[in-house]
Amino acid sequence: MGKLWQRAMIWMARSGRTCAFVQRQPWMAGLAARFVGGPDIKAVGATALALRAEGISASLFYLGEYVEDLRTVETTVAQLRAAVEVLHAEGLDVNISVDPTQVGLMKSAAACEANVRQVAAAVAHACSPAARRGHDAVMLDMEDAGTTEVTLGLHDWLREAGLPAAVTIQAYLHRTPGDLDRLRSAGAWVRLVKGAFAEPGAIAARQGAQISRRYRQAAMTLLSRESRLSGCYPSFATHDDQIIEEIIGRAQSQGWAKEEFEFEMLYGVRPDLQRTLTRRGQRVRVYLPFGRDWFPYAIRRVGESPRNLRFIARALAR
Ligand code: FDA
Repeated sequence: MGKLWQRAMIWMARSGRTCAFVQRQPWMAGLAARFVGGPDIKAVGATALALRAEGISASLFYLGEYVEDLRTVETTVAQLRAAVEVLHAEGLDVNISVDPTQVGLMKSAAACEANVRQVAAAVAHACSPAARRGHDAVMLDMEDAGTTEVTLGLHDWLREAGLPAAVTIQAYLHRTPGDLDRLRSAGAWVRLVKGAFAEPGAIAARQGAQISRRYRQAAMTLLSRESRLSGCYPSFATHDDQIIEEIIGRAQSQGWAKEEFEFEMLYGVRPDLQRTLTRRGQRVRVYLPFGRDWFPYAIRRVGESPRNLRFIARALAR
């Protein structure tokens, strides 16, 4: 039932007509507001500031993925560069999440490289080495398994060029232990997620319990003494409170200070847990999307947890 529900929501997310219709409905604004930081850079800047007042950092994401249209790619790059300026001007972490397929990968790896480099160079320029607080970076999101190799290559290439880059690793992929070993010895900033795409069994674990087990193993690898000594900065992106508690326990026993790693969650998902962790002195960041194309993103969150339907019900009641 759960998978069927999720598939139905993914179908809705992919239906251009449904998205265009819903995004025109003012009464759906409540759903957008729950999961999206604002329609434009000014609004999302205000949301990021409000989060910071509560001790929560943000990584901004401009909505849109698997973009074929070159004009939309250009707009996306311009929006990301504008986001860099605003975050810098407000004294916030200049932290930007990027999907390679939103910035040119659908056309060519070279186009994508040039665009990501532009954004990473803007981050580096905004934050001179002296001013860098260590949390300014372009975080590469990880999409379907067809993009893994190119995304990892992009990350390595940016780092070799001296640009601030970080990368997302999906625990469900069979290849992940090898990738993690390499990245942690290189002292990389690694965001660990369970993985959100419907990959075949030959490529990835498919059962929830198995995926959680893989996540735990990957987290323990990232929290080893060796990765700490190499300067690896793990970002544990999960809303799974049991796993979070295990990570906190392991980090303590392995001598990690609270500022040497962080937890990351989606804006609007388990905000109570985000605040509780912050109060306990843990570093917390939220993935903060902005833009007008919000419905595909928001309806996927409803697909992940039917409890989120209440935000639609509330909108309808109003
Ligand atoms: P799990 O799904 O097991 O949920 C744990 C608990 O949290 C449950 O109680 C559940 O109900 C609750 N929960 C989870 N999602 C919820 C929701 N939407 N609403 C309400 N409650 C919810 N994936 C990917 O393939 N590539 C990527 O680049 C990224 N990037 C990314 C960044 C960040 C910051 C996060 C938090 C996640 C991603 N993901 C991702 C998504 C990730 O792979 C995964 O699908 C989701 O985080 C859900 O898995 P959890 O670890 O939260 O556990």
